[in-house]
Amino acid sequence: MHQSKRFQARAGRDINKDSYIREWPETGLILFHSPCDPLPQIRVHAGRVVELDGTPEAQFDILDRFIARRAIDPAVAEAAMAMDSREIARMLVDITTPRAEIVRLFSGLTPAKIMQVVDCLNVVEMMMALQKMRARRTPSNQAHVTNKKENPALLAADAAEAVERGFAELETTVGVARYAPFNAMAVLVGSQTGRGTALTQCAVEESLGLRLALLGLTTYAETLSVYGTAQAFHDGDDSPWSKAFLASAYASRGIKVRFTSGTGSEALMGHSEGKSMIYLEARCLMAIKGAGSQGVQNGSISCIALPESLPGGVRGVLAENLIAELLDLELASGNDAMASHSQIRKAAKLMLQFLPGTDFIFSGYSSMPREDNLFGGGNFDAEDLDDYNVLQRDMLADGGLRPVREAEVLAVRRRAAGAIQAVFDELGLPPIGTEEVEAAVAARSSADMPDRDVVADLEAAERFLREGRDGVDVIRALARRGFADIAEKILAIQRLRVSGDYLQTSSVVLPGPRVLSAVNDPNEYRGPGTGYQLSAERLREIADLPQAPDPRTIGQAGAAGESLHLEETGAAAPGTDRREIVVAVGPAFGSALDSTLLGLPHRQVLQALVEGIEREQMKARVIKIYATSDCGFIGHAGACLSGSGISIGIQSKGTTVIHRQDLEPLNNLELFPQAPNLTLESYRVIGRNAAKYAKGEPVLPVPIQIDNMARLKYIVKTTILHLRETEQVRPDKPAQELRYA
Ligand code: 5AD
Ligand code: CA
Repeated sequence: MHQSKRFQARAGRDINKDSYIREWPETGLILFHSPCDPLPQIRVHAGRVVELDGTPEAQFDILDRFIARRAIDPAVAEAAMAMDSREIARMLVDITTPRAEIVRLFSGLTPAKIMQVVDCLNVVEMMMALQKMRARRTPSNQAHVTNKKENPALLAADAAEAVERGFAELETTVGVARYAPFNAMAVLVGSQTGRGTALTQCAVEESLGLRLALLGLTTYAETLSVYGTAQAFHDGDDSPWSKAFLASAYASRGIKVRFTSGTGSEALMGHSEGKSMIYLEARCLMAIKGAGSQGVQNGSISCIALPESLPGGVRGVLAENLIAELLDLELASGNDAMASHSQIRKAAKLMLQFLPGTDFIFSGYSSMPREDNLFGGGNFDAEDLDDYNVLQRDMLADGGLRPVREAEVLAVRRRAAGAIQAVFDELGLPPIGTEEVEAAVAARSSADMPDRDVVADLEAAERFLREGRDGVDVIRALARRGFADIAEKILAIQRLRVSGDYLQTSSVVLPGPRVLSAVNDPNEYRGPGTGYQLSAERLREIADLPQAPDPRTIGQAGAAGESLHLEETGAAAPGTDRREIVVAVGPAFGSALDSTLLGLPHRQVLQALVEGIEREQMKARVIKIYATSDCGFIGHAGACLSGSGISIGIQSKGTTVIHRQDLEPLNNLELFPQAPNLTLESYRVIGRNAAKYAKGEPVLPVPIQIDNMARLKYIVKTTILHLRETEQVRPDKPAQELRYA
């Protein structure tokens, strides 16, 4: 318990549900520069690396050996290692140093040196470097598509929607391993429904993952994990060579593959050897480079909360992203696993990859609500998609996604669910009912889906593999059942696979199908005006939020649905009746506009003011002011014409003032700035108070309410209504006496 109520309030905030610890270098709980980290050093003898970061060849472990033999260019190493780390760091942010030159230099650096270089940069400099060093010019994004019930109709519908929203890669996985062929198939079918096309993967045990890809049920693979110490590899029953072999197996069949690494895994497994997270990650990335992979997903991935518990953790994760790019690897930059309880912290972290743009900003954006995310809950999910679209629009930054219309989404969801229904039927798999298809179209999550016969599904999935069925069966089934367009697209990707067209670094398959990669879309950023630029078309797409109307349609007369009939009966003369209160209305009141900001019809507002006045046995006299649209001046002009010297000034948007002849125009008795709490009853009270001021009776001012969100909610409409009122101003036209009905 805190003594301070403010400390207590903060203690309950989301940010304090995250875990924080001090550094503990001996166990690897430190981002940079553990005392156990080696110093940068290399020795090349006869074209061969014989010492690496202080370790002579005779003492190399498997990882040292792999890195020394396969990941360092001996021809570059000695000169590159001799350079000052800060000098190299400056080249990373120097727009006159081309990306290619940096890639060349980094092919000769050791893990300890790489860590030293990136640690010279602050996060803004790292972001500058990330923007420059990304392999592909155009940024993109990857989605997760899973659900707890492993429902194929929902998987297909979610995949189709994800592609509609712009995701270029879709990753699924399984709750129950035996579901793998069906989940892969459903996501494959959905991924080729509608406007786009995407590569798909199914994260499962390695041999099954490879098999699914060879069968044409998936089109890329990603979860080839590597670690920064030999012991961590050993515990995973792996070596850099076995991983390289597996990657080659995929690539040899034209299937895109990337590795997975990231800070924290070695400490988590108890095999950090006391080395810092970034030093170990540099080793991972060099092993990945050495294995010949085109790319990596890193950014701590599943371990994200561990670096984040430490000082500089989020910066460190950005640093590891940057190292991947410096090694010329395609980068899927994380942001997939839940990184914080705090929305502020999550958004702040995302900006580090979102603003510079990476090959895949998310290694898996949860395209469904996170309770259906079988990867353990997405950091951003289906319910954050509008937030994400607004961020793109705010920053004019391409985050790879696009706003969509509900009708389009429903259409592709229905077609995808219908397509997988047809495939299941055609292949004799357990039926997908029409009610299941309809549920998948509208579902928020799998909670809205009927339960399937899991035993029958699993038996059928095993039979599917046993009987040697494959992607071609799926293509044929689609073609036979009226889904030739989907069949064609799946086939087209298989054709690309045979030609090896999407094996280049950082490939994505776009509609066409057209492959975009670091080969035909290289990032050649050289400062402002170079590198990726939003095209006019893409800019329009990002800006086109369904919830953003044309402002010209806001605040038109006729909105109230009832009109006020005002008749001008001539210029208003100063009044002489001491019982008279002037109600001075703005120039658009009851004419160009007919309701207030909150939608109260002007007729009812005027009626309420008059009622309030008359209940105090005073007389209301209504006058329209043409010379100004300013609330204070309207009120003051009214007061000058009022027999009692008191007036109520009201703008068309509903802002009201009680004024008195002898006050300065911008002073007043009471001001009621437009706020959500201004109801017809408030206007009655304002009428009453004005009358009481005129009678010289004591008045209790209408209490002020504070609404922090009022500006936020109303500023646009306020601006437009005020604009319309100001358009009606006639500086030389005298105030007009009004008769109203
Ligand atoms: N390092 C290596 N592999 C990781 N994975 C997740 N985080 C890391 C990391 N930091 C792997 C898991 C699984 C997939 C989700 O990614 O082992 O294969
Ligand atoms: Ca992923």
